[in-house]
Amino acid sequence: MAKKGILITGGSGLVGAYSVGMLLDRGERPVVFDVALNERLLSVVGVDTSKVTLIRGDMADLPALISAIRDHDCDRIIHLAAFLGEEVQRRPYSGVRLNFMGTINVFEAARLEHVSRVIFPSSGTVYLGSIGEGIKKIDESIPVNPPSVYAATKASCEFMGQAYAKRYGFEFICLRYVGGLYGPSPAGLKATREIAIQEMIRAAVKGQAAQIKWPYGPAEILYGKDAAKATVLAALKDQFKDKLFHIGNGDMVSGDDIIMAIQNRFPGSAIEIIKASNPMPYPETRLASDFSRAKEQLGYEPDYPIDLAVADGATLKQLENL
Ligand SMILES: NC(=O)c1ccc[n+]([C@@H]2O[C@H](COP(=O)([O-])OP(=O)(O)OC[C@H]3O[C@@H](n4cnc5c(N)ncnc54)[C@H](O)[C@@H]3O)[C@@H](O)[C@H]2O)c1
Repeated sequence: MAKKGILITGGSGLVGAYSVGMLLDRGERPVVFDVALNERLLSVVGVDTSKVTLIRGDMADLPALISAIRDHDCDRIIHLAAFLGEEVQRRPYSGVRLNFMGTINVFEAARLEHVSRVIFPSSGTVYLGSIGEGIKKIDESIPVNPPSVYAATKASCEFMGQAYAKRYGFEFICLRYVGGLYGPSPAGLKATREIAIQEMIRAAVKGQAAQIKWPYGPAEILYGKDAAKATVLAALKDQFKDKLFHIGNGDMVSGDDIIMAIQNRFPGSAIEIIKASNPMPYPETRLASDFSRAKEQLGYEPDYPIDLAVADGATLKQLENL
């Protein structure tokens, strides 16, 4: 019998492109559903696009989602499409419409097409309002307290996904990618931190000097490939106890740490950090997340500390013809 498909909304974005490659490597049948289909990014990260079903589609379009699932016999969904971070602060109505209502469309399509599992990438920002003095550990039991519109869209989807799953019988697996996700991808809708890291690596690859605005203290950052690894594990693994997982990297990284990693990889690069005010209305955590649950149950282990992620700058070089 032919293998069931796995629908990936936002499947040609950063996490999506890496996930598609990893699914193919494991003999799965990924079906990409993306409003701004980016075949170039898929190819650059090593995906043979002739082996993947590519659909240009908008998750605001429920019939299109249903057709994609039905026509390509999908029984799982990895739902990555979203507006990210500061972009939602700037355009809250669009952000809520896309992140919340678009996700409801995905849940509706899952319900109507009897999909067995939906993977939802939430964010470490959903609990940032709970961070204060005296917190010793940031694991999945920390209270949800979203301090921004973006975080509130993600937290609302977490609750709605749980409610749909309970009532309509699909598994809802929520992965909270913790910290700033970064890696080579179009930066249009991204968060300031991701754009800044990408600008640093771009300047180093081109051998140019750069001054980069960096409003952050030390924070956990997560390379796109590591987020994809966890996502694919959550989509494919058969049995595990919990439905909510923190996906982190475990290292607190400052702007200077990133510059040092870049200088080690690209000696002579001249990148400087300029202080700026934080565009997001919440405190930064001073602790790395505890992702031991994902380690134990999904077998997740990050592979990319900042120095190895920077060494992967060749991908950005190829993507942007640098
Ligand atoms: N970047 C972070 O710091 C961070 C942190 C935690 C969680 N996340 C979440 O991880 C997920 C993946 O992030 P990413 O970095 O891969 O994002 P990305 O921006 O690289 O990819 C998102 C993809 O979604 C597509 N998309 C946007 N609107 C769509 C629509 N209406 N219909 C269909 N496709 C649409 C885009 O074209 C893009 O290819 C997102 O849900 C994001 O909210 C990101």
